[in-house]
Amino acid sequence: MKLVFATHNQNKFEEVKALIPDSIALISLTDLGCTDDIPETGKTLAENARIKADFVTENYKLSCFADDTGLLVDALDGRPGVYSARYAGQEKNAEANMEKLLLELEGSSNRAAHFKTAIALNLKNDHHLFEGSVHGYIASRKKGKNGFGYDPIFVPCGHEQTFAELPLSLKNQISHRGRAIQKLIAFLNTL
Ligand code: IMP
Repeated sequence: MKLVFATHNQNKFEEVKALIPDSIALISLTDLGCTDDIPETGKTLAENARIKADFVTENYKLSCFADDTGLLVDALDGRPGVYSARYAGQEKNAEANMEKLLLELEGSSNRAAHFKTAIALNLKNDHHLFEGSVHGYIASRKKGKNGFGYDPIFVPCGHEQTFAELPLSLKNQISHRGRAIQKLIAFLNTL
């Protein structure tokens, strides 16, 4: 079965491909030759994920799933949340986003945060939603080189290292996206 994962992010694509069963041919937007920056105009993670999945199904006539992730920080009332990618500006710069967050939390004793992922699956125009989250805290400075986005400043509960210091295989098991993907896979296996 052919299934598109609607992302331009190669790191994320590889992360998810490692979890998807070999019986599914996973296709990226790059494989499709799709260079559109699909607009994320929804007010929630679930809405944004569905917009992206529907865009691909409508334009390429293929089943598709898309994810949208947010980092929700307790001391900031859940910000940056649905605006995580553009927290420090439209250019979606991960370094600038982390710097802004570290500055906002300077001196704060409450550094609790969680990542949340919504995955929308458009399967022959039937819609399904899968969600996953991981709780942890924001470190006082960036550490590690693995992963992407906010990984260098997020320490998952039960660990002392950031996602960027932990091996990708471990991140995949416990992460927001890993958990949502596991639900997606369990569903795909029932088909
Ligand atoms: P998107 O939903 O992939 O567009 O991600 C929204 C924002 O969250 C972007 O700033 C990403 O870099 C960040 N993000 C998404 N997933 C992860 C992750 O697994 N680790 C760290 N940051 C992430």
